[in-house]
Amino acid sequence: MQIPAELRQRFTRAKCVLALTGAGVSAESGVPTFRGGGNTAVWKGIPFDVISSAEMLERDLPAVWEWFDYRRNFLDAIVPNEAHYEIARWQELFPELTLVTQNIDGLHQKAGSHDVIELHGNIWRARCTKCRFFHDMASEAKRPDGCLECGSFLRPDVVLFGEMLPPGAFELAAERAASCELCFVIGTSGLVYPAAAIPEIAKAAGAYVCEVNPERTPLSNRCDEVLTGKAGEVLPLFRS
Ligand code: OAD
Ligand code: ZN
Repeated sequence: MQIPAELRQRFTRAKCVLALTGAGVSAESGVPTFRGGGNTAVWKGIPFDVISSAEMLERDLPAVWEWFDYRRNFLDAIVPNEAHYEIARWQELFPELTLVTQNIDGLHQKAGSHDVIELHGNIWRARCTKCRFFHDMASEAKRPDGCLECGSFLRPDVVLFGEMLPPGAFELAAERAASCELCFVIGTSGLVYPAAAIPEIAKAAGAYVCEVNPERTPLSNRCDEVLTGKAGEVLPLFRS
């Protein structure tokens, strides 16, 4: 595959770029996506949108923790791939780069990206269900039983189905989308809102929108360019 000439030219000249990523960007690291490939993630017979829901949190917090403990354990051995590293390099390339991710795996940060706007939280953080306490679990094998400040229950600091996004995250991403020249949509099925609105906002504000995905998505038709392929193979092509 070759990067089309117009896109390459825009990439070379761009000052203000936004990238929205989804589960597909971590697929080549071995992290299963939620959708696509005919599979839908299931945990002990429970669909992921049930076990990862606000309702389940109310009903069975230990079960929710068991699922997220399992995912953290699994992710512990996972390393970033070429797509994460390439996006991290873009920080040096563009005067302004905004990275917005729906992923909770922390792999962008592991690859060197900073100031990542995390729309769906981070699996390596817990937060108190009562007070404003956050707990970083990245460096420890065992999570604490309760909040270190007030003793209340801790919960994963991730957005569950039926919950709002972290305050300010979407607003900031939307503001950056409205002012970028070039917007990449990488490895997302474009089915989950409001995240999927980010490229639409960019497009409406006049940005050139490029999708990178091996499959077509509901967003494909509204993109200026669709690069059909794996993120870890397509993104490095911008370098040559
Ligand atoms: P999905 O699992 O819905 O979509 C993954 C997308 O990645 C699909 O469109 C695949 O075609 C594409 N893909 C697969 N392999 C790829 C590769 N190597 N390179 C590029 N693309 C590839 O994941 P998301 O769109 O991220 O929310 O899902 C959005 C949200 O749904 C997630 O953040 C999660 C889930 O519910 C929460 O957990 C709150
Ligand atoms: Zn607390």
